[in-house]
Amino acid sequence: MTKGIVLAGGTGSRLHPLTQAASKQLLPVYDKPMVYYPLSVLMLAGLREILIITTPVDRPAFERLLRDGSQWGMKLSFATQDEPNGIAQAFLIGEEFLDGHNCVLILGDNLFYGGGLGKLLTEAVSSQHGAHVFAKEVHDPERYGVVAFDEDGRATSIEEKPTAPQSTWAVTGLYFYDSRVVDIAGSITPSDRGELEITAVNKAYLDAGDLHVVQMGRGLAWLDTGTFGSLVEASEFVRVLETRQRLKVGSPEEVAFQQGFISAAELRDLAIPLVKSGYGEGLLELAERHLP
Ligand code: TTP
Repeated sequence: MTKGIVLAGGTGSRLHPLTQAASKQLLPVYDKPMVYYPLSVLMLAGLREILIITTPVDRPAFERLLRDGSQWGMKLSFATQDEPNGIAQAFLIGEEFLDGHNCVLILGDNLFYGGGLGKLLTEAVSSQHGAHVFAKEVHDPERYGVVAFDEDGRATSIEEKPTAPQSTWAVTGLYFYDSRVVDIAGSITPSDRGELEITAVNKAYLDAGDLHVVQMGRGLAWLDTGTFGSLVEASEFVRVLETRQRLKVGSPEEVAFQQGFISAAELRDLAIPLVKSGYGEGLLELAERHLP
């Protein structure tokens, strides 16, 4: 079994004052809290046991929103990160939860959407060995972990926020690891900016010949939601998609049903109290199509 972690701490300083009294990952992206999107991605990967890591002050709000996950056929637990000491700290905080299992980590402010996403995810989960990460071409690679490839598409280097990037391929906030990741995270030292860098973990896998980097093509969208502009863009992206099609984007209720975690009757019961806001309308329709 593979377990999941959503890392939803951080300071969100690029969104102040929005995030001075509220967690970035609870801010709205159109019709749902941001954390629904990464959570839905892990559910799409087939994971049912997920740890949500938040700041200590925000934890009660996440627990109020997500509960124990049983409403979606899931098992959710919660932990806190006292200070944002780096993404790789998630594995140390989650060590007991992971208990030697393989894991998928997703950043709480990353949004993925597109055809073929489910297949990409289930393939990465099913390959039990090594690390699998995803790369996407961007205009501003210097803001990210950057990976370069040889002619055969194999990763040759990975660097965190390089001043002179070797490529335009940025590593996205979705990472699949075998059980070695906890020991690797425990062995790396903080970077100059004082963080346990996820890029250092990926570099350790690269050096061991076990880092698989999958290039995400144009059919898959990867949106970041960390600034005023990108937050509005993400909302607009979801609004356009949800207005034009019957399906939702990033809805845990819908994914839970599609994955068989809950029945059509359970989906209907979740949808009914949400009809008034409009959120439940499509869900109710979906449930009714599958009810006798
Ligand atoms: P960032 O965008 O790097 O940081 P941030 O969310 O604190 O925002 P800002 O740069 O505006 O201050 O983080 C990416 C994601 O990872 C985000 O969802 C928060 C999360 N994160 C943690 O939870 N803990 C950490 O130590 C770090 C570095 C990030």
